Amino acid sequence: MKINHASNGLHGELSVPGDKSISHRAVMFGSIASGDTVIRGFLKSADCISTMNCFRTMGIEIEEERDEKGDFIRVSGKGIRGLSKPDTPLDCGNSGTTARLISGILAGQDFKTVLTGDPSLSRRPMKRIIDPLKNLGASIRSEKGNGLLPLIIEKGKLSGGEIRTRVASAQVKSAILLSGLYAEKETVVIEPALSRNHTELMLSAFGADITGGSTDEPKASVRPCRELRGLEVNVPGDISSAAYFIGAALIVPGSEIVLKNVGINPTRDGILRVFKDMGADIKIENERYESGEKSADLIVRYSSSLKGVEIGGDIIPTLIDELPLISVVAATADGETVIRDASELKVKESNRISLTVNNLKAMGADAEEREDGLLICGGKALHRASIETAKDHRIAMSFSVAALINSDVRPVEILDPSCVGISFPEFYRDMDLLLK
Ligand code: S3P
Repeated sequence: MKINHASNGLHGELSVPGDKSISHRAVMFGSIASGDTVIRGFLKSADCISTMNCFRTMGIEIEEERDEKGDFIRVSGKGIRGLSKPDTPLDCGNSGTTARLISGILAGQDFKTVLTGDPSLSRRPMKRIIDPLKNLGASIRSEKGNGLLPLIIEKGKLSGGEIRTRVASAQVKSAILLSGLYAEKETVVIEPALSRNHTELMLSAFGADITGGSTDEPKASVRPCRELRGLEVNVPGDISSAAYFIGAALIVPGSEIVLKNVGINPTRDGILRVFKDMGADIKIENERYESGEKSADLIVRYSSSLKGVEIGGDIIPTLIDELPLISVVAATADGETVIRDASELKVKESNRISLTVNNLKAMGADAEEREDGLLICGGKALHRASIETAKDHRIAMSFSVAALINSDVRPVEILDPSCVGISFPEFYRDMDLLLK
């Protein structure tokens, strides 16, 4: 994919696709609920399709339908103990959320399952869920004993209890909480910092006895559950997908865009707080809540005097997926941006610290890898380069944004651009719409 610099800015109104984290959860919880779950605004991307296929393999009917309100997904839930033993391994594709959350559910089943994934997912750490689930009585192991996929999960005896996690990860927290639905007594998770709380909010809407934590006390708990009840889920737009257009509008002169119905749950809105600190012109309008999830329309204008900032501590889990894009924007700002406490970036779909730094440098920016983050000295003009993505969707989209302010007449080349299909299949179409 070749991307030329944008000469006229981004303009117009756009609804970004549905939130990936919420879409995964709606399919998972709908599958183990009693009765139908209707999901509107579902993100039909490769990762969420991996989740759908795993549950189809365990006997759940999931159909795409349409009514007067538009397209929706119907999950015909079979109840908390209604999944069937799959005949084949469950393929989680590229999706860490699928592999980790489903493990919590599978730990509570009385049949054996094997979880596999693509080469990228097969390199990502699973010990972070194996250890706590085992401590709670699950029978789960890595087939090769190396803490990686494939995972083998068999019938165990979940006791419940308290777990302190070492990383602030919603995937780990959710796996533990989901196992807690099948446990003998209450299950409590204490995190080092509050991670996204979609599991807590949505399981509560499905009828589970669950309490979420807060920034001051990042502790969630769930009681054993007899039944979840199917419901209608309206998925807000994904702030992690909106991020690319927010970033693009901020750095491309002349831009003014409106992004409709973006999820701004406070455990996900760190990017807005950081951009505001940097001096960005972002207005939040029409704030509303549905099933505890906050959403709003965002008006974003070109901001000519962005300044570098320090990003670290408890805000990191609220913007973890946006850090490559924030780094691109920081490269255009005045002064230094320091990102710390972000070692988790090394174990995402790629090592996002080294890939972000290498691509920024390839475009002429001043950037440096740090043990737990990055340092970016902004203000240098970016020039063309070939962008190495390692098939990581967020790297491809972040550097497609950087390409828009490439000072060269020749375009930036994004290698393996189709990886955007993991979270945002229509990314390039939507970017073109705003650039017209
Ligand atoms: C997700 C949690 C985050 C995030 C991922 C989606 C989720 O991972 O990076 O894209 O849906 O729970 P961690 O919780 O492992 O940081």
